[in-house]
Amino acid sequence: MTLNIGVIGTGAIGREHIRRCSQVLQHSRVVALNDINRSNCEQIIHDLGIQAEIYDNAHDLINAPEVQAILVTSWGPTHEEFVLAAIKAGKAVFCEKPLAVTAQGCMNIVEAEIAAGKKLVQVGFMRPYDAGYRALKAVIDNGDIGEPLMLHCAHRNPEVGDSYTTDMAITDTLIHELDVLRWLLKDDYVSAQVIYPRSTSKAASHLKDPQIVLLETAKGVRIDVEIFVNCAYGYDIQCEVVGESGIARLPEPMSVQTRSAAKLSTSILTDWKKRFIDAYDVELQDFINNVLSGEMTGPSAWDGFAAAVAADACVAAQKSGDIVPVTMPAKPAFYN
Ligand code: NAI
Repeated sequence: MTLNIGVIGTGAIGREHIRRCSQVLQHSRVVALNDINRSNCEQIIHDLGIQAEIYDNAHDLINAPEVQAILVTSWGPTHEEFVLAAIKAGKAVFCEKPLAVTAQGCMNIVEAEIAAGKKLVQVGFMRPYDAGYRALKAVIDNGDIGEPLMLHCAHRNPEVGDSYTTDMAITDTLIHELDVLRWLLKDDYVSAQVIYPRSTSKAASHLKDPQIVLLETAKGVRIDVEIFVNCAYGYDIQCEVVGESGIARLPEPMSVQTRSAAKLSTSILTDWKKRFIDAYDVELQDFINNVLSGEMTGPSAWDGFAAAVAADACVAAQKSGDIVPVTMPAKPAFYN
């Protein structure tokens, strides 16, 4: 069985996902493309040698009879409209993060999905598909370090462009931690605070960098996440879980150790695209398999909503300097 996929948004990650679905993954075929920049679609068809129809209107693609499932990889502000349209058409939809740019937008999707009576949405949070995070979660779930008490995390990029603003440290960068740490701990956030250390001279003058986000969960776990997007040395994701009887640490990406010129060394990645490259394959294969089997199990619309609510609180905490409550409504039984 092969899943016929339509893709809306053929920019950087859209192109990568089309390549995956056409050349790497099993049981999928890209049959339709849409982008406000039509030439993007033409270029991809040429480069990848795929046979796909180009639609000038995203809604026509969603409703096209040959399209069985949709990938939404356009700009964030367009996601809500296209995901709602896919739900209305009764089609499964994989939406890159963010699910919507506001928590209310995510809630609109949650309500539409519940009204449709069937899980149709998977959000493109790929870290739960990363082998390292999965191994870390297994250690926690096995009870090997006892109950988690504290997490020390870091999300460091070598540099960012001038268009990167202080709030993007939350909405673009921390958003991945907000999702994966909830999943890792099976817990929800109850408060957020943001602290600004001395700024690096390497950051643009309008950007506060680094930042420290302090989160508290419903079970009382305290989490500190350092976000440092001009760290200069590499793309480095750290996560250390301190439990009652031991400590577990996210494995480093595989890298050859060398002894040379009086140094013992391993390389650190610099390109974020390479850090989770396998996880993107696994997440999309999971989506394809789930659509074909009729049971969606990946990051849900509720997970997209939860990340958005926590992100809103963190952005408010950035502005006020206060400890800001993260207020989540009760999880609907539909998502249990
Ligand atoms: P991009 O700017 O390279 O591509 C976006 C594409 O969407 C462009 O080709 C643009 O013409 C198209 N587009 C914009 N509005 C449209 C509309 N109304 N209808 C159809 N097409 C439209 O951006 P990129 O980096 O590919 O990011 C896309 C999304 O994927 C963003 O939401 C981003 O946050 C997310 N993303 C997620 C990552 C992850 O790690 N999960 C990594 C990179 C991006």
